[in-house]
Amino acid sequence: MAVRKIIRMGHPGLRVVAEPVPLEVMESDEFERLLDDMLDTLEDYGGIGLAATQIDEPLRVALIDLPGGPSRYGELPRIPATFFVNPEISVLEGDSASYWEGCLSVPGLRGYVERPQHIKVDALNQAGEAISYEFKGFAATVFQHEFDHLDGRLYVDHIQTPGHLAFDEEFERYLAPNSDDG
Ligand code: NI
Repeated sequence: MAVRKIIRMGHPGLRVVAEPVPLEVMESDEFERLLDDMLDTLEDYGGIGLAATQIDEPLRVALIDLPGGPSRYGELPRIPATFFVNPEISVLEGDSASYWEGCLSVPGLRGYVERPQHIKVDALNQAGEAISYEFKGFAATVFQHEFDHLDGRLYVDHIQTPGHLAFDEEFERYLAPNSDDG
């Protein structure tokens, strides 16, 4: 197990379309080590999600660790450290909403991004079993952000105007939604 370096915007590894993980790779010790490294890395850097491409591994696997409970974006579902292998997203409704997103590969910045808000996620878990979930609201945004990484996309690609980008400190001071709003 090891904390790996998270590559940052500008590194070409973030623009690679990751390869689907074949079943025989999922059963390998090497893949198990990759998942362990992703857990260690996310814990060390702190955050709610990490895609393999962010540690320069071009495989379609993402880790989500959503603490859940009340947040500035409303009540969030708790998703304890779960791997999504070869994930697919379907948009279930046309409604979209915007949130301020951050990314471990774009440190120090936030961007206001509009995305669909009701999605279904189909994937394999780390044991190779099919899993399927529906998500609404901010959780739907989190999954789209993470799975974008597997297609070589960053949240900044979705920003409609430069005014929708801010430093963390200015975001907290001037732009953050009031967390008391629930
Ligand atoms: Ni990210």
